[in-house]
Amino acid sequence: MPLTHRSHRSTLTQFLIEERRRFPGASGDFNALILDVALACKAIARAVALGELGGVMGNHADEAGDSVNVQGETQKKLDVLSNEVFIRRTEWAGHLAGMASEEMDLPYQIPGQYPRGKYLLVFDPLDGSSNIDVNLSVGSIFSVLRAPQDVVDSGPEPQRDVAEADFLQPGSSQVAAGYALYGPTTMLVLTVGDGVNGFTLDPNLGEFMLTHPKMQIPQDTHEFAINASNSRFWEAPVKRYVDECLAGQTGPRAKDFNMRWIASMVAEAHRILMRGGVFLYPRDTKDPTKSGRLRLLYEANPVGWIMEQAGGRASTGEKPMLGVQPSSLHQRIGLVFGSKNEVERIERYHAEPVRAEAANPLFAERSLFRSQ
Ligand code: AHG
Ligand code: MN
Ligand code: MN
Repeated sequence: MPLTHRSHRSTLTQFLIEERRRFPGASGDFNALILDVALACKAIARAVALGELGGVMGNHADEAGDSVNVQGETQKKLDVLSNEVFIRRTEWAGHLAGMASEEMDLPYQIPGQYPRGKYLLVFDPLDGSSNIDVNLSVGSIFSVLRAPQDVVDSGPEPQRDVAEADFLQPGSSQVAAGYALYGPTTMLVLTVGDGVNGFTLDPNLGEFMLTHPKMQIPQDTHEFAINASNSRFWEAPVKRYVDECLAGQTGPRAKDFNMRWIASMVAEAHRILMRGGVFLYPRDTKDPTKSGRLRLLYEANPVGWIMEQAGGRASTGEKPMLGVQPSSLHQRIGLVFGSKNEVERIERYHAEPVRAEAANPLFAERSLFRSQ
């Protein structure tokens, strides 16, 4: 491609400055925060790309052995390193009043030597980290919320520390959401509430370049993503939906479906953004103490808002994700997102009374009482 063709692309910095011109009163704090987050993602992309050469593969260990996060999951070295990178790149600048992350039990307080700003940053520093050791795509997910006035520095008076309750805002209150995908190329996908834009990291310039402006999700799809090993724990509406997809051309949907499962939600979200599809990690009966697998504040809400901003939909299966009032920092929730018509269909199946056929095992697939 001739240079002139490539050089007209906006950088992330240019894109943010041009967006800001629509708000003449804006201070620039928000843009600076997003650029700090983007720098954190570039640093994580480098660490991920070095792989074994970087000495950061495998589990993170402390004196007590392999370390475990608040969710009871074993932490990878890269989970811990990525969390550290997010903190160090964003804490100093005076844009944030606090942070919360998958890898920290409690909200992170901005150290006393730095000013406290008007935003809260919530993140999953490394999503899909079980894929790290096998060299498959992983990513980072982030969400920006407004901080309550009484935690933001406004004069010489000391302000109170941020508390868990400050983060318990519905997804509809987000002011920015995005993810970075560390795949064959590194991409940053961002919404500030005016559509979704995708940037590709130019490794020569070290800059994110706008390559995917105004991303839109096709409304219909014939591709779905679900961890089918959980099927015996699914609730009836989910089982019905998947059964109908699997029945293909000769079933009630009268078309064949394709299935994908990467076990990196951020990579699935990106595939769906690019070519449509539906992702389900529904609430199930596997572990009654968990109301889903994925986390509301730093997985479901940011990805959900991106989906909605790209013309897709995000749901708990029953109701819109972005309307859910969070009850705790690390709350888990059933998550369904992607092509609008499919997500609406799944919501419809949840709203309909359970069909006698589905509820009665005698009529289950391949049972005695099923014709053919
Ligand atoms: P994380 O690595 O941040 O803990 O998240 C992993 C998540 C998500 O990315 C993926 O969709 C899901 O876990 C995979 O779960 P299963 O292993 O049950 O398939
Ligand atoms: Mn995750
Ligand atoms: Mn993670």
